[in-house]
Amino acid sequence: EVYKTPDEGARAVAQEIADLIRAKQANNEKCVLGLATGSTPLKLYEYLIQMHKEEDLSFKNVVTFNLDEYYPLEKEAEQSYWNFMHVRLFNHIDIDPDNIHLPKGEWPKDKIRQHCEEYEKAIDDAGGIDLQILGIGNNGHIGFNEPGSSIHARTRLVVLENSTRVANLKDFPNLSKVPRMAISMGISTIMRSKRVVLLAWGHKAPIVARAVEGTVTEQVPASILQQHPDCTFVIDESAAAEL
Ligand code: GLP
Repeated sequence: EVYKTPDEGARAVAQEIADLIRAKQANNEKCVLGLATGSTPLKLYEYLIQMHKEEDLSFKNVVTFNLDEYYPLEKEAEQSYWNFMHVRLFNHIDIDPDNIHLPKGEWPKDKIRQHCEEYEKAIDDAGGIDLQILGIGNNGHIGFNEPGSSIHARTRLVVLENSTRVANLKDFPNLSKVPRMAISMGISTIMRSKRVVLLAWGHKAPIVARAVEGTVTEQVPASILQQHPDCTFVIDESAAAEL
C-alpha cells in the first residue's frame, strides 16, 4: 500500500490497529500486538495516543511483545527500547503494565537461552501475535535479524552488524557505546504472527524494492515476508520509488 506521505500511511495503520482492538474488545478477547522501535513507527504511536485521548480507544485488552532490545543494556538506560516504548507510547495510554513484554537487556548471559525460550512461550500462551508491526533496516533486517539469519530462528541473542550500529549511533554518545549485541525475536517468531505490517518511509526505497520484488533469501531478511500469508508493506511514495 503506497501512501502520499508517511503521515497518511501511519494514520491508516493506526486505524487498522484501533479497529482490531475494538473488534477484540467486542468479543471480550485480548488483542496481541507485536511492536517495533526506531524512527519509523513514531508517527503511528502518536496517532494511537491521539485516538486514546480523543476517541476513547482503550488499551486495557491489549498485550504487547516488542521485537528486540539491545544487549547488554539496563532498561532504565535512555537508549533502551524499554525506555523508548514507555516514553513514546506506553506512558500515554491505559495499557496494563503486566501486559507489556520486551526482551530484557539485563538478563545474565548464562540465563539468556532460558529467558528467550520463556519469551517465545509467553507469546504462544497469549495466543500468538495478532498483528506484528515492523520497520526495516537499510540492510533488510527486521527486528535485529541481520542478513544471514536463519528462517528457523526464534528469540535469541544476536550480534549486530557494524552498519546497524552506525545507523543507530544517533542515539548514543559514540560508536563504542552502541551495544554489539541484541536480543531479537527470530524470523520464525515473526512469521508465526497472524498478520504482519511493515512500515517504510523515504530513503528506504532500494531495500524496499529488494524485499518486495527481489529473490526470497536469508541475505535480505525482509524478503522472507513474501512467503507470509498476510503481510502488507505500508510505504510512502519515496519508499516506493524503486518498485
Ligand atoms: C533498528 C530496529 C529495527 C528497526 C530498524 C530501522 O535497528 N531494531 O526494529 O526497524 O532499525 O530503524 P528506523 O525506523 O529508525 O529506520
